[in-house]
Amino acid sequence: MMNDYLIDMHNVTVYRGNSKILSDFSLQLPRDRSIAILGPNGAGKSTLLKMLMRELYPMRNEDSWVRILGKDTWNVWELRRNLGFISQDLQNRYLGYVTGIEVVMSGFHSSVGLYDHQQFESSWANLATRIMTDLGIEHLRDDEYSRMSTGEQRKFLLARALVSEPSTLVLDEPTSGLDLNATFHYLRIIRKLIEGGKQLVLVTHHIHEIPPEVSLVVLLKNGRIIGYGDKQELLTDERLSDLYETAVNVVSSNGYYQVLPGA
Ligand SMILES: Nc1ncnc2c1ncn2[C@@H]1O[C@H](COP(=O)(O)OP(=O)(O)OP(=O)(O)O)[C@@H](O)[C@H]1O
Ligand SMILES: [Mg+2]
Repeated sequence: MMNDYLIDMHNVTVYRGNSKILSDFSLQLPRDRSIAILGPNGAGKSTLLKMLMRELYPMRNEDSWVRILGKDTWNVWELRRNLGFISQDLQNRYLGYVTGIEVVMSGFHSSVGLYDHQQFESSWANLATRIMTDLGIEHLRDDEYSRMSTGEQRKFLLARALVSEPSTLVLDEPTSGLDLNATFHYLRIIRKLIEGGKQLVLVTHHIHEIPPEVSLVVLLKNGRIIGYGDKQELLTDERLSDLYETAVNVVSSNGYYQVLPGA
């Protein structure tokens, strides 16, 4: 188990539609560090997370593999219970009439929505209530999800991700569209979860939202890894200016980083 990676990708090729998004792509992410993945629009960040969640599969190739948590094959539902995932896609997939509590309960089965054949254990309702209470959304449990604010929806998705007690949280731009207060509240919750032992894998465009607990940074550009290593070595003027192809000036304070326009 010691050398099991969260994900171990070797020589992977991934197409979406007719475009090759990742080509001979190799990456190993450890299980014991929280990670931020940065890169410009279209770099392949969400594609990478979808590979991790087994929403996308690579082309079959000799001498190529995608191993997740040490295993080549997974029951995807089991895998998704181990990795709590939040993305804009997922947020949009809950269409029609569903209530907050239904979004949360669907997390027990990693499904989008609830289905008649699903069995629910009696203890689950209590766990769901406890998690909603911790996140401050219990009072909204019976409200219609589609009418909630973006920030409220995001908290329900976090509750959904947490009910299966995953070891890792995989968050794709979790704070996009949130106001500052909602963002910082969300971040406090995430930091507490990391302190409680969860691993975070975060894709973001907001450098100032990378929790201090994140120590490993991956820079992705045009489907290639152009940087991998300790945060303080990668969040520099030079590396980020190169990544985003615009001059930036990186400042840091209290374990956080921020990026300003450079000269
Ligand atoms: N369903 C799809 N069909 C075809 N191409 C796609 C599809 N989804 C994404 N792509 C292409 O794959 C590339 C990588 O997309 P991806 O969503 O992984 O980027 P990203 O790094 O997450 O970008 P962003 O920061 O904008 O979210 C892009 O060029 C995109 O146009
Ligand atoms: Mg994306």
